[in-house]
Amino acid sequence: MERSYGLLLLIIKTLAIIHIVQAQSQQGYITLDCGLPANEPSPYKEDSTGLQFSSDATFIQSGKPGTIQPSLASRYIKPYTTLRSFPNGTRNCYNLRVEKGRNHLIRARFLYGNYDGLDNNPTFDLYLGPNPWATIDLHKRVNGTKQEIVHIPTSNTLQVCLVKTGTTTPVISTLEIRPMGKDSYSTQSGSLNLHFREYYSESKTPLRYPNDDYDRQWTAFFSENWTQLSTTSDVGNTNEYNPPKAALATAAIPTNASEPLTIYWSNPEKPDDQYYVYRHFAEIQNLRSNETREFNMVWNGELLPSDPIIPRELEIITIYSVAPKTCPEGECYFQLKRTNRSTLPPLLNAIEVYTVIEFPQSETNENEVVAIKNIEATYGLSRINWQGDPCVPQDLRWDALNCSHVDLSTPPRITSLNLSSSGLSGHIAAAIQNLTQLEKLDLSNNNLTGEVPEFLGNMKLLLVINLSGNDLSGSIPQSLQRKGIKLALEGNPRIFPTSGSPGKTHKKSLLVPIVASVGSVAILIAALVLYLVLRKKKQPTVKVVDPPPSMPTVNVTYGHSPEPSIEMKKRRFAYSEVIQMTNNFERVVGEGGFGVVCHGTVNGSQQVAVKLLSQSSTQGYKEFKAEVDLLLRVHHTNLVSLVGYCDEGENLALIYEFVPNGDLRQHLTGKGGKSVINWGIRLRIAVEAALGLEYLHIGCTPPMVHRDVKTTNILLDEHYKVKLADFGLSRSFPIGGETHVSTVVAGTPGYLDPEYYHTGRLGEKSDVYSFGIVLLEIITNQPVIDRNRRNSHITQWVGSELNGGDIAKIMDPNLHGDYDSHSAWRALELAMSCADPTSARRPTMSHVVIELKECVVAENSRRNMSPRMDSLSSTEVSTTFDSGMIPTAR
Ligand SMILES: *[C@@H]1O[C@H](CO)[C@@H](O)[C@H](O)[C@H]1NC(C)=O
Ligand SMILES: *[C@@H]1O[C@H](CO)[C@@H](O)[C@H](O)[C@H]1NC(C)=O
Ligand SMILES: *[C@@H]1O[C@H](CO)[C@@H](O)[C@H](O)[C@H]1NC(C)=O
Ligand SMILES: *[C@@H]1O[C@H](CO)[C@@H](O)[C@H](O)[C@H]1NC(C)=O
Ligand SMILES: *[C@@H]1O[C@H](CO)[C@@H](O)[C@H](O)[C@H]1NC(C)=O
Ligand SMILES: *[C@@H]1O[C@H](CO)[C@@H](O)[C@H](O)[C@H]1NC(C)=O
Ligand SMILES: *[C@@H]1O[C@H](CO)[C@@H](O)[C@H](O)[C@H]1NC(C)=O
Ligand SMILES: *[C@@H]1O[C@H](CO)[C@@H](O)[C@H](O)[C@H]1NC(C)=O
Ligand SMILES: *[C@@H]1O[C@H](CO)[C@@H](O)[C@H](O)[C@H]1NC(C)=O
Repeated sequence: MERSYGLLLLIIKTLAIIHIVQAQSQQGYITLDCGLPANEPSPYKEDSTGLQFSSDATFIQSGKPGTIQPSLASRYIKPYTTLRSFPNGTRNCYNLRVEKGRNHLIRARFLYGNYDGLDNNPTFDLYLGPNPWATIDLHKRVNGTKQEIVHIPTSNTLQVCLVKTGTTTPVISTLEIRPMGKDSYSTQSGSLNLHFREYYSESKTPLRYPNDDYDRQWTAFFSENWTQLSTTSDVGNTNEYNPPKAALATAAIPTNASEPLTIYWSNPEKPDDQYYVYRHFAEIQNLRSNETREFNMVWNGELLPSDPIIPRELEIITIYSVAPKTCPEGECYFQLKRTNRSTLPPLLNAIEVYTVIEFPQSETNENEVVAIKNIEATYGLSRINWQGDPCVPQDLRWDALNCSHVDLSTPPRITSLNLSSSGLSGHIAAAIQNLTQLEKLDLSNNNLTGEVPEFLGNMKLLLVINLSGNDLSGSIPQSLQRKGIKLALEGNPRIFPTSGSPGKTHKKSLLVPIVASVGSVAILIAALVLYLVLRKKKQPTVKVVDPPPSMPTVNVTYGHSPEPSIEMKKRRFAYSEVIQMTNNFERVVGEGGFGVVCHGTVNGSQQVAVKLLSQSSTQGYKEFKAEVDLLLRVHHTNLVSLVGYCDEGENLALIYEFVPNGDLRQHLTGKGGKSVINWGIRLRIAVEAALGLEYLHIGCTPPMVHRDVKTTNILLDEHYKVKLADFGLSRSFPIGGETHVSTVVAGTPGYLDPEYYHTGRLGEKSDVYSFGIVLLEIITNQPVIDRNRRNSHITQWVGSELNGGDIAKIMDPNLHGDYDSHSAWRALELAMSCADPTSARRPTMSHVVIELKECVVAENSRRNMSPRMDSLSSTEVSTTFDSGMIPTAR
């Protein structure tokens, strides 16, 4: 059948119209024949499938082409007869363009075929970006092996890497990427690793493209105990899963109609694997009026909770698991059992079985990856290990770099770059300024020319700079002459030791950025700011023009809001004031989503936190405007308030009230010298955080979704009062039941609503999910994602511990059992319902507030009965929740 199809295509391939149809239906496919010799045409059409295979040469810089032993070649289709091998370097990576947020089928095939004549089958590791995917061991695989996953990339690039683990040389034969539908194959966490995919037919014909739009491969399977049903009628296959029509046209029923239909598999090597199962049913028998077919699903002897299945006539039904399932000792029995009223035995057309595979390690910050690749290209560097993710996994980090590692879910950042004695020539690369977290830069002993760029001094964290032993010229920029910077410049004979006269440069540094920010409106604003600043300081030495009379009509748009309010203008600070209030960014107190946060003081006494927007990120600018707009409209005792902001050319900053006592995570873990808080205070913090969110959801018009609820965004003052921070990702959304479809999925992994992550639909319930995760952390003090834990996501961990029924195993051991177990259970149940993967089943924040307050009451009454004298409980007992704290709708 496949052969004749290929022949057919061969005959008519000159017909342009067929050619176009063919090409269109493979839209978005990446189909690589690895190691295709350069002298062969690319792309070419593989006859048996009609797939357009291309050479992999433009997707990878390293490795060398090979061809399997000629005597074996006739066994395989053409793409498997060539391969790329990687004798050099530990990690070699393919760089592929994909669509962030969309499911993709990713399949790689490996065949050794004695291409090198050494008869030595290799073993090596396969990575997806920074995460291990599989170990490829070709020793017992004469016919090779494949790996296939269904995965949602977190960025628009995807790296598939082969990593040498011993002495043998990694090889790859084909690499295939297929974009899939958006609303299918959802998981609670992790991606799907194909275990098997089969359809039930005696034909033995495997199916893939063009029968399957997504080019999934289906093997035909049949058991001696079954009888085949088949139809020649057309079977409707349209749903989110779209299995091939040909896979639905046959089905298996048990030959003994009273027996169940049983699918069995075992996975002794990984007995703990979790499974997602997708079953495809269609009634393909002509039922008489007195016949019914109805059956239930049984998983390892347990009836699955669903209505009995009645397959639809010539129309697909797909039944899949919302939550993953495990099998005792890796032995899995999936059965279909007819119900009492059914006159016919159960039927199954096709099934897909996947295991969960976690890819928890975040890739390095995307902007920094772009920047470091840009630097690599600027200097024509070709370092053998500069492949794959620059920072992770840590043992494969690019040499010359050091990175910051907070936790698995935080993208690593590049903190140091050492390119000394690397034969660099030309100017100091401008892309360096996009490594905004850089602390140390060493470019010594190269042939760099040109001036020392101003931007080095503007990089807030860059304090150690070694430029010695180059051929740089000109003066040292003003920006580098600040306190704390260690700058080495010896061995650059053409550098002027000092810059121009202080008065002149001072004036220049104030005026140049302002004028450079172009646009008459901007100049008008800047002139006003300058005027106000200078007038306030009463500096008589500088002559200032009067402000233009038409000033108040200046129109600046912030998102969809009208011109800035008087309030907004009043709270605008000049950049020079920001420098002054932070004492030249002396004390960095944290790092937010898009820049560093410095401590500052305004009016000599009020403490503030100044959040500097890194100038590099354009997305950051939009968020900045949204945040100003939002914060000026939002006032609530549990939300961080905005003191002012700065919006001067490229210099953007937000000035918040300073919340002195760290964040909730520090108080759960005891890190950063913070005390670990007791259960009563934890509950109160949960209530206050919930009140803040409730206010955003129902107290604001239009309602707001916070979008980045997590323990590090719950700040605490000296009385442990909650101040929710970081509205950077918040966005207004339309009122009414409608959920909003957003194109960019933003938020923190682990806290991200799985439904939002997969569908892009955003609602208040996404915050409820994240809040549920926060509540689980409050209860357990477990990491949200821990790859070393059997159940890596906190919901999975709690779910599995819940089976034991022992709350003490779940609660944070640091609480030493000092809590009311009734309130603990209640909070735990509430947290799990908030973190329900289905948003419709999650409570509202108002409901959460009510529940949590009752937990507080239960805990308080216990404490009052057995009072304990610790310093923290005194602040807690005095707090009551009255209706006055609930925000009124505006
Ligand atoms: C591997 O490295 C050697 C020595 O540096 C070089 O001659 C050879 O071309 C490299 N091979 C590949 C496939 O990159
Ligand atoms: C490899 O493939 C050949 C022909 O396709 C087949 O005869 C042989 O049994 C296969 N070997 C294994 C170990 O699967
Ligand atoms: C067929 O059924 C018999 C009896 O139930 C069972 O022992 C045997 O394993 C089954 N065969 C297959 C291939 O499942
Ligand atoms: C069919 O299965 C039933 C129940 O398992 C059994 O009692 C019966 O003997 C079987 N019939 C045949 C023909 O094997
Ligand atoms: C259904 O009706 C047909 C005749 O129309 C009869 O032969 C058959 O036995 C009936 N089946 C059942 C399960 O009653
Ligand atoms: C089906 O039959 C079994 C055994 O004959 C009986 O226990 C059960 O109650 C019946 N179920 C229904 C829904 O009639
Ligand atoms: C990275 O850190 C290690 C250990 O602190 C240090 O030895 C090494 O020199 C650093 N590398 C760079 C490029 O700064
Ligand atoms: C700088 O370039 C000159 C010639 O262009 C070369 O002789 C010299 O070795 C280079 N120095 C370094 C440190 O690369
Ligand atoms: C820095 O990053 C931004 C945003 O990614 C980009 O537009 C800009 O060109 C980069 N600057 C340099 C000098 O590479």
